[in-house]
Amino acid sequence: MTSLQYNRQLPNTLALPCAADTLCVSGIEQARDAVRLARALGRSLLPLGEGSNVVLPGALQGIALYVTDKSVHEVGRDNEFVTLRVGAGHAWHAFVCTTVAEGYVGLENLALIPGTVGAAPIQNIGAYGREVAAFIDAVHGVDLHSGDSRSLNAAQCEFSYRHSVFKGALRDRFLICAVDFRLSKHAALDTHYPALATQLDGQAPLSAQQVLDAVVALRRQRLPDPELEPNVGSFFKNPVVDATWLRNVDGGTRMPQYPQPDGRIKLSAAWLIDHCGLKGLREGGACIASRHALVITNRGGATQRDVLTLAERVVHAVQQRYGLTLEMEPRVYGDA
Ligand code: EPU
Repeated sequence: MTSLQYNRQLPNTLALPCAADTLCVSGIEQARDAVRLARALGRSLLPLGEGSNVVLPGALQGIALYVTDKSVHEVGRDNEFVTLRVGAGHAWHAFVCTTVAEGYVGLENLALIPGTVGAAPIQNIGAYGREVAAFIDAVHGVDLHSGDSRSLNAAQCEFSYRHSVFKGALRDRFLICAVDFRLSKHAALDTHYPALATQLDGQAPLSAQQVLDAVVALRRQRLPDPELEPNVGSFFKNPVVDATWLRNVDGGTRMPQYPQPDGRIKLSAAWLIDHCGLKGLREGGACIASRHALVITNRGGATQRDVLTLAERVVHAVQQRYGLTLEMEPRVYGDA
């Protein structure tokens, strides 16, 4: 474990200024030491990665905790599947590229998502028709209250759309140290998502690498690059409504609609925000991206307050026009 570093600026892709004390651990054993240290100091521990899905305050009282492990080990194999255990500190996109280069199929739709492997299960990252939950076998880490190490299987992770137990009952309570992925070289490609099918010109792709390349191209066209325009990706979840709601709302038939297995319909929050005319709306340094209405960017000097006030204005406008309350997707930290 590194020694406690005081008053550091925390990396985050919205580029919000945030100072906190920080600690880095290599894995489970050191994480348990960190729990003991925090307890002795009477302080809380706040697990963070690259800060690609958080809205941080100017200062955090808790100790920001990072896992540095970037290792990849094969921990299981049968005729069909390999199981890879990946350290939480590994960059997500690099891991996706490695698996595809080695011939494994599955993660290609999730290419170029910012963040670490350890962060992926928390919000169950998803894009272009796939969610990471389908490939996770287990999550290993440490309970930050008891200091005990614990492994959760996929069912125990309680994955659903942009959600998991790590955002629910285990929020602020569990440090993810490693994730097991179960992958096959013979799995089917999935290119049914309309924008991806269009990007591939309706042709059936030959390889996972082709799908990966198409996803990278799509994301580069559609989403602002956090390196150039700091952002945390989608700022709101896509709302899910009953079919009756759609029939009754003005303009409902024109909205993009994604039928769900339970018969309900997922709408596009971006479309709703766009049709409220909010692209380019600004609050201090925060702005609704002109490229994608679901993304809030930091145009320079934004604070957490700017971002949250802008988000409140968006929620209010969509509520007034469509009677739907959008739910924020990234984690908002208070100054506790
Ligand atoms: N649209 C607009 N205006 C815009 C942008 C999009 O009307 O400014 C419309 C598009 O025309 C399309 C619809 O909205 O009909 C959906 O757009 P898109 O395909 O970009 O997907 P999304 O629903 O906005 C979701 C995920 C993204 C993921 C994409 C692709 C959520 C909250 N977001 O966005 O995830 O990359 O699908 O699968 O589910 C993220 O979570 O950070 C993220 C980027």
